Amino acid sequence: MRPILAFNWKMNPQTEEEAARLAAASDETGVIVFPPFPLIHVVRNQLTKAMLGAQDVSAADGGAHTGEVSPEMLKALNVSSVIVGHSERRKLGEDDALVASKALQAARQGISPLLCVGESEAERSDGLEVEVVTRQLKTVFDLLGREGLGSRLMVAYEPIWAIGTGENDAPEDANRVAEIILKVAEGFNLFPRVLYGGSVTSATAGRYIGKHSTLSGFLVGGASLKPEEVRNMITEFLL
Ligand code: 13P
Repeated sequence: MRPILAFNWKMNPQTEEEAARLAAASDETGVIVFPPFPLIHVVRNQLTKAMLGAQDVSAADGGAHTGEVSPEMLKALNVSSVIVGHSERRKLGEDDALVASKALQAARQGISPLLCVGESEAERSDGLEVEVVTRQLKTVFDLLGREGLGSRLMVAYEPIWAIGTGENDAPEDANRVAEIILKVAEGFNLFPRVLYGGSVTSATAGRYIGKHSTLSGFLVGGASLKPEEVRNMITEFLL
């Protein structure tokens, strides 16, 4: 199956011109671009083959929620996928229950949640990665499973200590966690595709995906802001 390249731009770039250039470089079938909200229109106008994503969504479906963006608004923009549970948002106080509500609201509008899970450096040193990831998965799987809305769910395993640090998880470790994610999902009758994220570049990505790997793509941050990196990854995995 064709791998998924999910490009999380985070709070970048700063101008519409840069966003348009980057979106044009990323426009290939199998890519999902996640721009910041103010740049969604610019990116949407550039994409002909890649899918459009959003970095966040409200757990409410409308009303008095200053600063929030509803799933219905995202759907009207042709957003097909939304990131929930990213560690950079969990750090701001989002807990598993809120992440699950966001995933549910998105799924109700037909938008695929891309659920991020992953352990901290201290949790990894204590051998707690499976426990942490399993806890992060269960609340979301339970809610989506109960409503029969998990069919287009994706999960990204992103060890926090590997995000933006240049640290790479060992491919066998990342695939071992991916297997556990699939096993937990199976218990809820869910069959998500599992991506890996954390300092992924065109030089390192190939190690994670092979004949026997469970991972089926990447959630890329920093490298997705460099057109040359983007072209290299697209050439290696999608062309
Ligand atoms: P980096 O690729 O910059 O480490 O970011 C990973 C990430 O958090 C993607 O969501």
